[in-house]
Amino acid sequence: MNTLLVFFSILISYCNCNVSPVGVQYLENIWSDEMMDKIREVFRESTITDMAADDIPASQFDNIGESLPLDPNGRCPAEYTVNKQGTRCVFIGRIDVATEYVKTGGISRQRKSIEGLYSAANPFISKVQNGARREELAEIMAKSPVSGALENTCQEGILRNVVMTMLIMLPGQTVPVHYDIPLFSDLPKANAPAWLQVAYALSGLNKDREIRQVQTITYLTGNASNSNQGGDFVYWLEGPQGPMESFPVVANSAIVTDGVHVAHAVKVWQPESGHSAPKLNKDDQNEIRYIGDSKWQIFINGVGEKVYEESELRMSFISRYICFRDQEEENSYTFQSGQKNATSVLEEMSEALETDLVTGENRKTARDTILTNYLQYPATGGLNYCVLPELVPGTAGSVLKFIFSYIC
Ligand SMILES: *[C@@H]1O[C@H](CO)[C@@H](O)[C@H](O)[C@H]1NC(C)=O
Ligand SMILES: *[C@@H]1O[C@H](CO)[C@@H](O)[C@H](O)[C@H]1NC(C)=O
Repeated sequence: MNTLLVFFSILISYCNCNVSPVGVQYLENIWSDEMMDKIREVFRESTITDMAADDIPASQFDNIGESLPLDPNGRCPAEYTVNKQGTRCVFIGRIDVATEYVKTGGISRQRKSIEGLYSAANPFISKVQNGARREELAEIMAKSPVSGALENTCQEGILRNVVMTMLIMLPGQTVPVHYDIPLFSDLPKANAPAWLQVAYALSGLNKDREIRQVQTITYLTGNASNSNQGGDFVYWLEGPQGPMESFPVVANSAIVTDGVHVAHAVKVWQPESGHSAPKLNKDDQNEIRYIGDSKWQIFINGVGEKVYEESELRMSFISRYICFRDQEEENSYTFQSGQKNATSVLEEMSEALETDLVTGENRKTARDTILTNYLQYPATGGLNYCVLPELVPGTAGSVLKFIFSYIC
């Protein structure tokens, strides 16, 4: 097996967050044919659903004080969505991602209605749930050069796989620019909105309690000789002001990086195919299933819809790992000793920025101060919508309920 390991820079200078040496490693020919068939089989036996609804923690810490009652029709204003309990309106969990995507039209500069943008950013993604399958996949990964790349990144630490996901993108679909959600040993996931956790990681204020993460993105489909295939993985290793770099989609290749600290996105897959992404209503049950003969079909509420050739799909297998520095850190994460919450995070940020983010009346101002100071995205050029009031009015049963959990 001809394995090519290319090491792309191991340092990042802009970031004061330096939790880990952040880099991007790219590897080709990572599996034998049999290994790849096995992984494909796991995809084919799975029902893969569209992306989960917005990732709002089911706790009192789903907001930074902006929470409002629903209006009499059960609706929330733009930029808000209905919380997990269905009782209040809170900021969309990934307000950072949504704002940037809608404003710019995303990395592929789509010029579309809001509805079109949502549909395009609605790929199919599911965790591998079956324990026996996970073990088989873990064995395959352990035998591939990807495991060496992971060990490189984790150095002396203790590496743990936390989740394995299958991602299928249809022609016309994209993934907006985002940072993945971080983990902290002293801030449980449910104790702060996702966007605030991301800003907290990028601020570097809690770098000693941040758990290092590494993702591997591997591909089952893709042929770089096809110049129209699109779907490139793009990333900004040197921070949002740095250059955009990219990798084409190549079956049997892998990208290893820390998506928590490296902004990344996926360009529109097969933009020239003439297909636009199907319109999917978040209130429906949307699935994609293998139907034999190298074909896949979309099912909406159990009813079969459009059929795709497997070669038309962008199929990637993504694993997320955490890398504990030592046993002590693993224990502190497992038992979550410190119990910070959204207020504690706001207090720390207030001190660092010398401004009161905790009590001010206008919560959008507090939010924007945090985003401006800590959570910047690269300028991808173009302006699709400049008026944010357009952004996502959330209804309990809305077609446009915003997505983006990105916990894969
Ligand atoms: C990739 O595409 C090129 C050009 O279309 C084709 O010649 C080649 O066989 C393809 N490779 C694979 C592995 O499908
Ligand atoms: C949240 O954190 C604040 C400040 O750190 C603390 O005073 C408060 O008791 C915490 N709230 C809960 C419910 O734990």
